[in-house]
Amino acid sequence: MKTEQHAVIRLSEYAAPSYAVAGVALSFDLAPTGTTVRADLKIERSAGQTGPLTLDGEALDLKSITIDGQPLGDNAYTVTETGLTLADAPSKFTLTTEVLIDPVENTRLEGLYQSNGIFCTQCEAEGFRRITYFPDRPDVLSTYRVTVRGSKDVCPILLSNGNLVEQRDLGDGRHEAVWEDPFPKPSYLFALVAGKLDSYEDTFTTMSGRKVDLKIWVEPGNAPYCAYAMDALKRSMKWDEDRFGLEYDLDIFNIVAVSDFNMGAMENKSLNVFNAKYILADPETATDADYANIEAIVGHEYFHNWTGNRVTCRDWFQLSLKEGLTVFRDQEFSADMRSRAVKRIQDVRMLRARQFPEDAGPLAHPVRPESYMEINNFYTATVYEKGAEVIRMQHALLGEDGFQKGMKLYFERHDGQAVTCDDFVAAMADANGRDMTGFKPWYSQAGTPKVTASWRHDATSKTLTLTLTQATEPTPGQKQKQALPIPMRMGLVGSDGKPCNLILDGQDLGAETVLMLDEDSLTCVFEGVDNAAVPSLNRGFSAPIVLKAPYSAAESILLMGHDPDPFARWEAGQQYATALLLGMVADLREKREPVLDEGFIAAFGRILTDSSLDPAFRSLAITLPSEDYLAEQMRPVAVDEIHEARQRLRKAIGETLSRDLSRLHAELADDGRFDPGADAAGRRALRNTALIYLGAAETPEAVTLAKTRYDIADNMTDRMAALAVLTECAGPEREAALADFHDRFKDDEQVMDKWFAIQAMSGLPDTLDRVKALLDHPRFSMKKPNKVRALIGSFAMGNPIRFHAADGSGYDFVIDKLIELDRLNPQVAARLLGTFGQWRRLPADRARLMKTALERLAETEGLSRDSTEIATKSLA
Ligand code: PHE
Ligand code: ZN
Repeated sequence: MKTEQHAVIRLSEYAAPSYAVAGVALSFDLAPTGTTVRADLKIERSAGQTGPLTLDGEALDLKSITIDGQPLGDNAYTVTETGLTLADAPSKFTLTTEVLIDPVENTRLEGLYQSNGIFCTQCEAEGFRRITYFPDRPDVLSTYRVTVRGSKDVCPILLSNGNLVEQRDLGDGRHEAVWEDPFPKPSYLFALVAGKLDSYEDTFTTMSGRKVDLKIWVEPGNAPYCAYAMDALKRSMKWDEDRFGLEYDLDIFNIVAVSDFNMGAMENKSLNVFNAKYILADPETATDADYANIEAIVGHEYFHNWTGNRVTCRDWFQLSLKEGLTVFRDQEFSADMRSRAVKRIQDVRMLRARQFPEDAGPLAHPVRPESYMEINNFYTATVYEKGAEVIRMQHALLGEDGFQKGMKLYFERHDGQAVTCDDFVAAMADANGRDMTGFKPWYSQAGTPKVTASWRHDATSKTLTLTLTQATEPTPGQKQKQALPIPMRMGLVGSDGKPCNLILDGQDLGAETVLMLDEDSLTCVFEGVDNAAVPSLNRGFSAPIVLKAPYSAAESILLMGHDPDPFARWEAGQQYATALLLGMVADLREKREPVLDEGFIAAFGRILTDSSLDPAFRSLAITLPSEDYLAEQMRPVAVDEIHEARQRLRKAIGETLSRDLSRLHAELADDGRFDPGADAAGRRALRNTALIYLGAAETPEAVTLAKTRYDIADNMTDRMAALAVLTECAGPEREAALADFHDRFKDDEQVMDKWFAIQAMSGLPDTLDRVKALLDHPRFSMKKPNKVRALIGSFAMGNPIRFHAADGSGYDFVIDKLIELDRLNPQVAARLLGTFGQWRRLPADRARLMKTALERLAETEGLSRDSTEIATKSLA
C-alpha cells in the first residue's frame, strides 16, 4: 500500500503528564474565516519531571507567544505540524499564545467550525488542539475562564461552559460574554457556541432544592420542536437522583442543537452540543423511534455529567470507562421510562447487528483497546455497547444494591480525577468485599464467546444433565483466548409449559438461577425433572455471547409460547426463524424449492393475536431476523439467497396470516390524538408491522392500503411505515408518495434525511441510479454528515442486496464517495469505510470486487490517518 505510515499509540506506553495546567483563560474574537484565540495557561512542572514541554496543536497559525509576558526568541521554541515544544521552560509560568484559525474551512467538524452559520466546537477526542496549543489529553484537568467576542448581529448569543460571569457591549457592533467553569475538566469537554439562536426554556429543582435553569438552543424558528427533548431532560435529571442519588452540580444547563455534527451528541460540561436530529421533534416530523432516541441520548449526555465529566478517563484506552457505563445508565433510564423487556430486546438486536460483526471481523478490539492509530476510530459498538454489557454483568453479579454501593465508592474515591477501567472494577469489588479479578478479562479480550449447550433427560433417574462449553475464535493480535466468566441466567420449562423447580445437588434454587460458566465447560445435573423439560438459557441476555443450542422446532415453539422471560420468548422465535431461513437459503442455493414451515407461521400467528402481550413486544416478536444477522450465521454469505428467503417467508406470513393482520390493522387505528408514550408507540409499531406484512404480499390491495395510509397519516411514524412499503413496490403510488413527501418537507433539514434514506434502502433495481441522481439534489451536501449518512450510509449499510450488486457497482460507487469524503471529513469517512472490512466473508467474486475497491481507496494519495487505519486493518 502506498499510504504513509502513521504512528501507533499503545496503552503500555502510557506516561503521566510532565506538566499540569492549573488554570486556563481563553479569549475568542470570532470571525468566520479568521478567528483569533488567545490562551493564557498557568503551567506547572509536575514533581520529579524534567525535559521539554510539548503542547499539541494542529492547523493553527501562531501569531505570538510569551512566557510571563516576555516574548520568546526564535530558538526558544519549535512549531511542527502537530505541536509546539518549549526546550527549557521554567517550572512554573504563564504561557500566552495567540493563534488564528479558520472555522469556515473546517469541514472536519473537529475544533471550531460553523454549522449553518452558527459557530460551534467539538473537542472530543482531540479537537481542542485545533483551537489552541495545549496538552490535549484527558488526564490534564483545569478550570477555564472563557471570553467570547463577536458581532451582535451575527452572534447575538455567546455561550461556553459553566456560569455566565460578565457581559458587555464593546461599542463597535460587537459584544462579549465571559464564562467561568468552576469544575476542573479535561480539554475535550471544552465548548463554545455563538450565533443566532432561539431558546426553549424551563427549570428543574434538584433534590437539595436548587433551581437549575434549563435552556435548549436551536436555529431560529425551531423552538417549538424542543418540548419533548426538554421533558426528557427533566426526567433524566430526576431519574439520576432517584436511581443513582446523583444531583446536578451547576445552576445552568444548556443544550445546543446543530445541523452538522459528526456523531450523535457531546457531553461538554453544562453545554451539551447535539446533532439536531436528536433534539427536534413533533408528531408530524419525528417517528416513535426518533422520540425514543431523543430520550435516550438526552439522558446519555446528561448522565455523563457524573460518569465522564466529574470522573473522567485517564487516557483514551479507558474510553469505555465513561461510555460503557453511560450507555448502561441510559439503557436503564429508557427501561424505567418504557417497557424493560422491549428495551432489552432492542438493545440486544443492536448489539448483534453492530457489535457482533465488529468483534468477528478485522477491526475486532477489546472493550479496553491496547493500541490505536486514530482514536476517532474507537468510538465503536464494542467500546459503547459491549462496554455496557460488561457493566450490566457486574450489575447482575452484585445486584442493584451492591452495584450502587460500588458507584458510591467510585465517586468517593475518584471525583475530580481521571481514572481507569481497573479503578472502576476495584471500586465495585471493594465496596462489596468481592474479588473481581476473574472478571477483568472481559475488558481485555476481544471476540464474542460462543457457548454450546447440550442436554439429556433421563426418565429413570428423573435428571436433566446440561452441559455448557465456551470457546472464542482468535481475533487480530489475539491468537490465544481464555475462558471468560459467563453468567448464564436460566430456567427449565416443562413440556406442559410450566416452569420447573431447579434442584442442584439437593438444593432447591427455585424457578430460575444464574450458572457461572467460568471454565471451558460446565455440567449440571438437575434433579427431580420428570418430563422432558426444555432449558431456557441466557435469559435477559445475561451475557454477550453467541449461544448454540440444539432446539427442535417443537421445543422452540414451547419456549415461544411459554417462557416466563420475555426476552427468552422473543429469542426462541428468532432462533427458530434463523434456522428456518438458513434452511431455505440452503434450498435456494441447491436450486430446490424452499420449504416454508407452517408450524412456524402458526406460532407467529399465536403471538400476533395474543392480546395478553404488550403490542410493542408482539411487533418485535413477529419481526424476522435481519439480512445482516442471517449473514453473520453463514460463510460465505449467500447475499441474494438470504434476501430471497426472507422475502419469501415474509410474503408467506403476510398471506397465511392476512385475516389476522388485516383485523389487527383495523383495530389498532388510534383516535387521532398523538401520544409519544411507549404504549401508544407500541400500538403503532404493531399496526405498522401488520401493514408491512400485508405489503409483503405485493398485491394491488396492499399497495392501495399503503397509499391510503400514507395519504391520511397524521404522524411521521405512520407516514414512514407506509412510505417504506411503497418504496419497495414500483409503480405510480410509489412515485406519488415520494413526490408528496418531498414537497411537504423540502424545507425541513431533518425530515429530508428520511427522504434520502428511504430511497437509498429500496431493494428495487434502479436504486443505485437514483442514489447517484440524488447527490445533485439541492439539499444534499458532502459537507453535511447527516446527509452523507442518510444517502450513502443507508445505501452501504441498509441495503445489502443493492450494495452487494454482483457487478461491484455498489462497492465502486461507495468507495468513490468515500475517497471524496475523506478529504473533507475523515472521521465520518472512516466510519462508513468499516463496512468494507466484511469482504472476506463474501463469496469469491464479490470478495474480490470489494477488496479491489478498498485497495483503490487505500492507495489514494494523502489519505487520512482515520481511513488509513481502517483500510490497513481491513486488508491485513
Ligand atoms: N462522547 C460522545 C458521547 O458518547 C460521543 C462523541 C465522541 C461525540 C466524539 C463527538 C465526538 O456521548
Ligand atoms: Zn457517551
